[in-house]
Amino acid sequence: MPLNSSSPATPVSPSPIPLLDLRAQLASYRTEALAAIERVVDAQEMIMGPEVGAFERALATYAGVGHALGMSSGTDALLAALMALDVGPGDEVVTTTFSFFATAGVIARLGARPVFTDIDPATFNATPEALRAAVTPRTKAVIPVHLFGQMADVATLSTTPGLPPVIEDSAQSLGARLDGRMTGQYGAMTCVSFFPSKNLGGFGDGGATLTNDPVLAEKLAILRVHGSKPKYFHHVVGGNFRLDTLQAAVLAVKLPHLDTWADARRRNAARYDALFVESGLVSRGLVVTPPTSARAHHVYNQYVIRVPDRDALARALGERGIGTAVYYPRPLHLQPCFAGLGYGPGDFPEAERACAEVLALPVYPELPSGALERVVSEIGRFYGL
Ligand SMILES: Cc1ncc(COP(=O)(O)O)c(C=O)c1O
Repeated sequence: MPLNSSSPATPVSPSPIPLLDLRAQLASYRTEALAAIERVVDAQEMIMGPEVGAFERALATYAGVGHALGMSSGTDALLAALMALDVGPGDEVVTTTFSFFATAGVIARLGARPVFTDIDPATFNATPEALRAAVTPRTKAVIPVHLFGQMADVATLSTTPGLPPVIEDSAQSLGARLDGRMTGQYGAMTCVSFFPSKNLGGFGDGGATLTNDPVLAEKLAILRVHGSKPKYFHHVVGGNFRLDTLQAAVLAVKLPHLDTWADARRRNAARYDALFVESGLVSRGLVVTPPTSARAHHVYNQYVIRVPDRDALARALGERGIGTAVYYPRPLHLQPCFAGLGYGPGDFPEAERACAEVLALPVYPELPSGALERVVSEIGRFYGL
């Protein structure tokens, strides 16, 4: 429009605030990532090239563990971990009912039975007591999930006597700490995901299994190549669970940024907490902000509030250009594919209540200034404040 136009100004709608904007992050590592990709492409070692081992060493150092094994996804990292413990038909694996499907899917895929527990409403995580109570002589493993970036109490769990091996599902929580120790240092194995929306995301699928146990590390290394060792000789049945060289190259470039990005997420979360209090939404009981345990270093892969009338609020925010998501609308024990396990509505009331109330808000590190204020004020507007 020419500067001297006399037509009336059209109202400018504020720019959308997506739940996550990966392009906003790209600028901080784009040149390095493209150079790393170019090196892999030129070398044409696309499977188990040197970048995989280099990234695994960097990841193990970062997490303070002896071994990090790259895997094709967080799901396959969990599957391989259970296979390393020889989980199979007749076995039980105890886990939370409030998680992404993969946590339970891998148990069922091996012919074992997922045994679910409820969650602590304050942290969305299963408590050590609940997990312990679900253990029977058939239990082969326990999988606490560190949901949204905050660790479950694996410190207590890992020192509970008589417990089968603990596998930390840390798909959402790489870099999180509990009592000053990072995820990966408590469980027999710890599984992380590099799905692009995770705090350390690749350019596609990827994952890793971490362990301090050299015997498990060796098993995992064999399982991820169809159980083959030496090549073309198979003593066990594994799968193709390898991390692509290209993904490893990109992840190695991004890993040094992980703590800086997590710090920005933590600052955004603290600002949300303060804004929600100032808005009066908290004192009126309309918004419950995510409580953080004093023992936890939360890395806020998601900032998840609880609200009444959640679906209507999510719709209203969407209409005003604000992205949100519901993690998760249905607990695992009520998924149709698990109907045969015999669970029913009301079995895990806290998880079921969370499914009706939770809403994830934008918390990504590069959120433009003013975005948090706008999200909170739109939520206030929805509730008539
Ligand atoms: C808690 C949890 N477990 C497991 C997974 C599976 O990871 P992936 O998507 O990399 O297979 C995810 C990913 O969304 C997750 O959030």
